[in-house]
Amino acid sequence: MKILVTGGAGYIGSHTVVELLESGHEVVIIDDFSNSSGEVLDKISMITDKEFVFYEGDVCDKNFLESVFAKENIDSVIHFAGYKAVGESVANPLKYYRNNIDSTLSLLEVMDNNKVYNFVFSSSACVYGVPDTLPMKEDFPLSPTNPYGYTKLFIEQILKDLSHSNDKWNIALLRYFNPIGAHESGLIGENPNGVPNNIMPYIMRVATGQYDKVHVFGNDYDTEDGTGVRDYIHVVDLAKGHIKAIDYLNSNDGLSIFNLGTGIGHSVMELIKITEKVNDVAVPYVIDERRPGDIDEYYADPSLANEKLGWKAEKDIEDMCRDAYIFAFKNN
Ligand code: WQD
Repeated sequence: MKILVTGGAGYIGSHTVVELLESGHEVVIIDDFSNSSGEVLDKISMITDKEFVFYEGDVCDKNFLESVFAKENIDSVIHFAGYKAVGESVANPLKYYRNNIDSTLSLLEVMDNNKVYNFVFSSSACVYGVPDTLPMKEDFPLSPTNPYGYTKLFIEQILKDLSHSNDKWNIALLRYFNPIGAHESGLIGENPNGVPNNIMPYIMRVATGQYDKVHVFGNDYDTEDGTGVRDYIHVVDLAKGHIKAIDYLNSNDGLSIFNLGTGIGHSVMELIKITEKVNDVAVPYVIDERRPGDIDEYYADPSLANEKLGWKAEKDIEDMCRDAYIFAFKNN
C-alpha cells in the first residue's frame, strides 16, 4: 500500500517510515522541517536501502496537499505533523491551536476530495486527566491539563464527529504514552532543538557530557522512590503499532482508540540508574522543585491494542536506555 506520512522526518515519524518501508509499503513523506532536518531522510535511506517520495511543505496549505494527492495514489494517511512541546503550548496557545487543528482540517478535507478515508492519528496519553486508578484504559475520563493536550482532544472529537457523519471513514486514534529510545543503528533518534523539555533527551545530554546534571523535578510524589512514574515505550515498538493500525483499518470500519504503552511504569530515578548501568556512564543529578502540572504516576492498560491490533511492546527499559545512549553518543 502507499502510505502518506505527515511529519515523517520527525522522531516518531521517521521510525514509523523505517518500519513501513521494511514491511513492504510504499511511503510518501510530507514535512516542513519546522522541528526536524533533511538529514533524517538520508538516514532512513541508509537504514532501509529503500526508495520513498518526499515533499517539503506545510500541511496547513491545501493547495500543496492537493498537488501531492494529484501526483500520488495514496491508500492511507498517518498524521504526525504538529507542534508537541507542552511548555511552549502554555506560553503560545494560539500557535498550537492554529497549527495542530488547522493542519488536520486541511488534510481531512483534501483526503475527502480525493476519496482517501483510512486515517491513523498521532494522539497522546495527555488527553487523559489525572487518573483515579491505574492502569489507564481508553474509556477513562478525558481532561487535558495544557493547550497541547487540548489540541489532541479537539482533533479526536473532530475525528469522532467525522466518523459518525460518514461511515466511509476508517480511523485509528493512537494514544502514545512516553516514547523514548532510538533505532538500533543509532542513525535516527530523539534530538530536540534547544534545551529538552522531556526527561530522556535531557538525561542523554548529561550522559554524553553536554550538560552537567539532571534536574529531577521533585522526589516527594506518591511513588516508590518519590520521583515521577511514567509508561516509557521504545519508539520502535511505537512505530510497529502504526503498521498494525494500518493493517487493522484495512479490515475494520469506523473509529477505534488504542493506548500504545507497555503497561509498566518506571520512575525518573530508575531511568537515571538504568542508563548508568547499561551504558557504564555517570549521570549526576540534583533534586529540584516539582514542575507545575506534573502528576505522580501514570501507565497504560494496553490490552485493547494487544487484542485488536495483535500488537505488544517487545523492548524493555534497558533496551530503551541503551538505544537512546547509542544514538546520543553518535549524534551529540
Ligand atoms: C517525565 C518525567 C517529570 C524533565 C510529556 C507530554 C506527553 C508526551 C511525553 C507528547 C516527569 C520528569 C522531566 C526533566 C524531570 N509528549 N522530568 N526532569 O511530562 O510525562 O509527558 O512528554 O505527546 O504528551 O505531556 O514527559 O519527559 O517531560 O517527564 O524530572 O528535566 O520526568 O517530572 O515525572 P511527560 P517528560
